[in-house]
Amino acid sequence: MKTIIEPFRIKVVEPMRLTTREQREKLILEADLNPFRLKAESVLIDLLTDSGTSAMSINQWAGVMRGDESYAGSTSFYNFEASVRNVFGHQFVIPTHQGRAAERLLCDAVLSSDSIVPGNTHFDTTRANIENSGAEALDIPIAEARDPRDLHPFKGNIDLGLLENCLKRNSGKVPFVLITITNNSAGGQPVSLENIKAARKVCDENSVPLFLDAARFAENAWFIKIREAGQAHRTATEIAQEVFSYSDGALMSMKKDAFGNIGGVLSLNSKDWAIKIRTNLIMTEGFPTYGGLAGRDLEALAIGLEEVLHEDYLEYRIRSTAYVGEHLAQAGVPLVQPFGGHAIYLDGRRFCDHLADESLPGWALSVALYEELGIRACEIGNVMFGHRDPKSGEWIWPDLDLVRLAIPRRVYTQSHMDYVIEGISELYGKRSSIRGLRFTERPDVLPHFSARFAFL
Ligand code: F0G
Repeated sequence: MKTIIEPFRIKVVEPMRLTTREQREKLILEADLNPFRLKAESVLIDLLTDSGTSAMSINQWAGVMRGDESYAGSTSFYNFEASVRNVFGHQFVIPTHQGRAAERLLCDAVLSSDSIVPGNTHFDTTRANIENSGAEALDIPIAEARDPRDLHPFKGNIDLGLLENCLKRNSGKVPFVLITITNNSAGGQPVSLENIKAARKVCDENSVPLFLDAARFAENAWFIKIREAGQAHRTATEIAQEVFSYSDGALMSMKKDAFGNIGGVLSLNSKDWAIKIRTNLIMTEGFPTYGGLAGRDLEALAIGLEEVLHEDYLEYRIRSTAYVGEHLAQAGVPLVQPFGGHAIYLDGRRFCDHLADESLPGWALSVALYEELGIRACEIGNVMFGHRDPKSGEWIWPDLDLVRLAIPRRVYTQSHMDYVIEGISELYGKRSSIRGLRFTERPDVLPHFSARFAFL
């Protein structure tokens, strides 16, 4: 059979609300042209994020009922610890309420104002946490990552030459290297096993620990299985375990590849760092056996972390994302290739080639997607990363101005995705009608969440 089906059936349904174009025009204006400000009930298909939006399985819901809510030493913590350790293999497993809490705890514990943290591409909250410590977040992806048309199979890779130079030049200033799998900010692209292994060698030669931002580690493992020479016969679990074996620690938002609606983890081998982090955890998140989560959350995450490595799921997940990409590409829609694991990234600049960077083409496209189709998507481009040069005051725009269609796990069916494909293909046909935007309010930190806009 060539058809790959959703490897689940639906037991509980959540109705979706249909709106008219006129209603949506009004709603998005009321939201100051920022899709983050829309009420979710006004959205038809919500592709804003794959984070915390998964459908949990019957086993996870059963786990919720079993959750042990003891303050200290709960059974659910030990199940969580065993599940994380089985895949990650590190000695200390520290639960946090979500990924960015793990980032903050690690940054607080080990960064100082002259530190540098190199990585393939830091996610926005990771960058914000590193910079909040006064340190520098350095993105050194391979050059191919910057070209949305380049078909390199592992465009998430870190540039090993630049990494080596950075570590040599900044001896003593790099507390850890952080590789994000898959590389979300650069298009959901995977990192190869070979690249992680080689990065490990460079880190060893310079006595610097290697950490992974493992939010989508299972999708990354599947890409290694299907794209990297000599890996096809291995299980996703074996591959993931090998990936983590090259790391000294990992941060994970468990709202992605653990099917959690909330949750995160910081897992590491350094006892000194773990002691510092746990002290801070107690002050800010909670006791070390719950870290800001309920016992029921820990239980659901422990189960989700195992389920996400089921191969029928991963095969369906990566294929069904590519299905959207392939059909949009056939319709001529400009997008990042190869297709990422959790999302399809539209190329805002090429989609809206009538708009200059100052008119925020990617963001304008995300507004049009909502007005036209009721689809909510997330710009990862000029608004999220653009900033003014502190000296000249000129805008500096990022290499890519993308619009991410992030696909929640196990939530939408193929006919939902057919609607997305048909709608976006039609919108591409009339793209010159998409109106440019300007900021009316722009916060300095993480501007995309709360900025306000007006049409030009
Ligand atoms: N790292 C990566 C690679 C992420 O994609 C995210 C979140 C985080 C860290 C932070 O985790 O949300 O649990 O605090 N990404 C979401 C997204 C928000 O939409 O891509 P968190």
